[in-house]
Amino acid sequence: MKQTVLTIQARKGSSSKIVMVTAYDATFAGLLENAGADVLLVGDSVGMVVQGHENTIPVTLDDMVYHTRAVARGSHHALVVADLPFMTYKESSVQAMQSATRLMQDGRAHAVKLEGGQEIADSVHAIVAAGIPVMGHIGLTPQSVHALGGFKVQGRKQEAAALLREDAIALEEAGCFALVLEGIPASLAAQITRSINIPTIGIGAGPHCDGQVLVCYDLLGLNPHFKPKFLKQYAQLHENVSDAVKNYCEEVRAGIFPASEHSFDEPWAAINDDDLPEGIRYAGSH
Ligand code: KIV
Repeated sequence: MKQTVLTIQARKGSSSKIVMVTAYDATFAGLLENAGADVLLVGDSVGMVVQGHENTIPVTLDDMVYHTRAVARGSHHALVVADLPFMTYKESSVQAMQSATRLMQDGRAHAVKLEGGQEIADSVHAIVAAGIPVMGHIGLTPQSVHALGGFKVQGRKQEAAALLREDAIALEEAGCFALVLEGIPASLAAQITRSINIPTIGIGAGPHCDGQVLVCYDLLGLNPHFKPKFLKQYAQLHENVSDAVKNYCEEVRAGIFPASEHSFDEPWAAINDDDLPEGIRYAGSH
């Protein structure tokens, strides 16, 4: 089923929770949506899991456009949401609209996501008024990692929890179609979810949200050392990848690969895309 902001909004309060997963390239985009993900988030977590940075701050708008285009090319029915990276929307509503425009026009996103609460409500309103759907993101907002003193659970104290409840309402009023709740107590996430009419999508925010999001590399277990409390690894792909590559190294060194079935003996043999299954292109020569 083709997902749109309307199909996602209609899942508010539904027993069928919204599934969002991050994606950064076309191959994963196809795999993830075919496995059932409703929303592909081109997260600025790309800075950490793909680019190797310690946090998301170094990610640029050009980086996000590049990865969003790749995800948009590889997906056909998921909703593609792209993150506006650090300092590309907090200066003014005009800057926010210009940055959102690039992700939509050059990146081919269907919606954009911004981190922040009441302080960005005017920018959210301006982007939405221009016809661009916006997903909000409050709680542990990674672009503010230094201001927060680290990747720490937010809203534990009454005052902070009250602020987050106000932020959620302000973002709904500004026109967000959905709201990510990251790193907050489950009871607070439940209160916020009940208090607004747009779906909440949680990460480290307990089971009462309308949907959940995880970073695809994390849920696939590509980094054996990253095991925070909120994460469930559904596979240990680091083992599979490591075993496969060790095997390849051994076979190449021992002269086992390539064997005759991987070799072209006839001088006229052609590598022809027409012989490959539909949708698959020859990618052997770069
Ligand atoms: O950048 C990201 O991947 C995110 C999700 C973890 C919500 O913002």
